[in-house]
Amino acid sequence: MNAALESVLARELSSLLSPASILRCHEALGQRTTLRVGGAADIYVEPASEADLGRALLFCHRRSLPCFVLGRGSNLLVKDAGYHGVVLCLAHPVFSSVGVSGLRVRCGAGARLKSVAQEAKRHEIAGLEFLEGIPGSVGGALRMNAGAMGNAIFERVDSVRLMNMAGEIQECPSAEMGAEYRQCARLKSSIALSATLHGEPGRREAIERRMNEFSQRRWSSQPAAASAGCMFKNPAQIPAGRLIDELGLKGARVGGAMVSSQHGNFLVNDGSATAQDVLDLIELVRARARTERGIELETEVEIIGD
Ligand code: EPU
Repeated sequence: MNAALESVLARELSSLLSPASILRCHEALGQRTTLRVGGAADIYVEPASEADLGRALLFCHRRSLPCFVLGRGSNLLVKDAGYHGVVLCLAHPVFSSVGVSGLRVRCGAGARLKSVAQEAKRHEIAGLEFLEGIPGSVGGALRMNAGAMGNAIFERVDSVRLMNMAGEIQECPSAEMGAEYRQCARLKSSIALSATLHGEPGRREAIERRMNEFSQRRWSSQPAAASAGCMFKNPAQIPAGRLIDELGLKGARVGGAMVSSQHGNFLVNDGSATAQDVLDLIELVRARARTERGIELETEVEIIGD
């Protein structure tokens, strides 16, 4: 997008939104991702209400402007040239409520998974402990059917409140969401606004113990350095981490990007990586898996930008 067009579009979009919404141009995205690489968004919006989100989506739809909803950026790789379109972020508190009713937890798309797990524990609702260690938002987790410790979020979802690209809202039962391992068909063309999850009755101490156990397992097997979590989906034949390990790729480097020496499926940023370093390392790993084992690795991390 050229600068003149960008400023016209930004002004037009801004005039449609309530004053409480935030709109900025050239917003650096790298610092909004856990991998910490990548360029800027042409236009960045934090809507202050569902109505503003709907207006922004309709605006993009009518002008055929690419738009992307950013969660906590924990499963995202933004290319160095940035994103030429509108990035929407549900960071306003209106999108991050967590409410409990019986064994059900209603959570906004912008809520942190950690907060959902903590709130469930407080109300003695078991079964959501695995969410504690996933460093993302509810919306992002639904979009990719995130999981850990043998569980995935859609096993716990009753329904999702959705907004389509025309700004229309619908409540969709879990069975109609098209959720599979690390993907969700309905959320390719719609945005999750909130979801209702369910758990079972549990004792606070037992829930706490399970959370601690999960946390210990995670810290002993996964690196603390900047990364986007697991880079590749696990292929049917073998977990990606074990495959990369067996290929002897731990410690392999391109610039500031390195295959973690702790877990083969984590590509970490030593602080100096560019998005291109990470993309080149992804290709290096994929090429070795293809030529040496005949396995086509698919990224789990979403890659956006030009
Ligand atoms: N392994 C190795 N070498 C390695 C890494 C793993 O031999 O360098 C072996 C492990 O010993 C184990 C197997 O590979 O036998 C699987 O490893 P792990 O238990 O660490 O699980 P994973 O399949 O690599 C999955 C999720 C993680 C989640 C963990 C823990 C995927 C792609 N990854 O990892 O999710 O945290 O289970 O439950 O499904 C993420 O999605 O970003 C993510 C980190």
